[in-house]
Amino acid sequence: MIARAALAAALLGVALAAVAAPPVTISAYLESLCPDSARFVTEQLYPAWLHLREILALDINFYGKAQTAPRPGGYVFACQHGPGECEGNMMLTCAKKHIPGEDRYMAFVNCVMRELAGVRAGYMEVGVSYQDIANCLNSLEGESLLHQVGEKQRRLNVSISYVPLIFVNKDLLNEVETNLGNQVCEAYRGLKPANCSLYGFSLQTICK
Ligand SMILES: *[C@@H]1O[C@H](CO)[C@@H](O)[C@H](O)[C@H]1NC(C)=O
Ligand SMILES: *[C@@H]1O[C@H](CO)[C@@H](O)[C@H](O)[C@H]1NC(C)=O
Repeated sequence: MIARAALAAALLGVALAAVAAPPVTISAYLESLCPDSARFVTEQLYPAWLHLREILALDINFYGKAQTAPRPGGYVFACQHGPGECEGNMMLTCAKKHIPGEDRYMAFVNCVMRELAGVRAGYMEVGVSYQDIANCLNSLEGESLLHQVGEKQRRLNVSISYVPLIFVNKDLLNEVETNLGNQVCEAYRGLKPANCSLYGFSLQTICK
């Protein structure tokens, strides 16, 4: 009887852990033409998402060391890696709004960052409509979406000394921390998914 009660309690605990644990949030502040952002996306973020999406909530932002200035009716931007980066940041920000489904959005981000192509890569591979994103990119919509990303990043009140800037839940990962998958699995309060055993990649380099 005692064993059965203990078993029931254990099963209930498992069920509660499975139901109650909130997902781990990864907030990433990236730049479209930053090689270290690209490495982070392709070697850390995208693999972690593919393996652990059931316990992840993503918050992906493209802005970084950019600057925004108002102009009549809109905004102009200056970016660490030049105008192509601003265009890429805006394109990826438009994509976040206009690509239906996080799986396709993440595949798109991974493809664009892997090619470091800023604007052109990814549409074919992921089967995304270029036109929806192009309409946004060349409009006030794109400017105001990117402006909002900049404001969101400013509200963090963190000095952006390096990019990518990564938070797991509210904790800022500093540049020497490695292995995003492990960080996520450690941060998760529920039953660890089987895929938590899979990691071997590391986060080491940064854009100074
Ligand atoms: C576990 O990882 C594999 C890739 O190694 C992936 O195909 C699978 O969907 C993952 N499982 C879950 C539940 O996310
Ligand atoms: C922003 O950070 C600075 C330095 O850490 C601090 O002095 C200031 O109070 C913060 N401002 C807000 C609004 O949190």
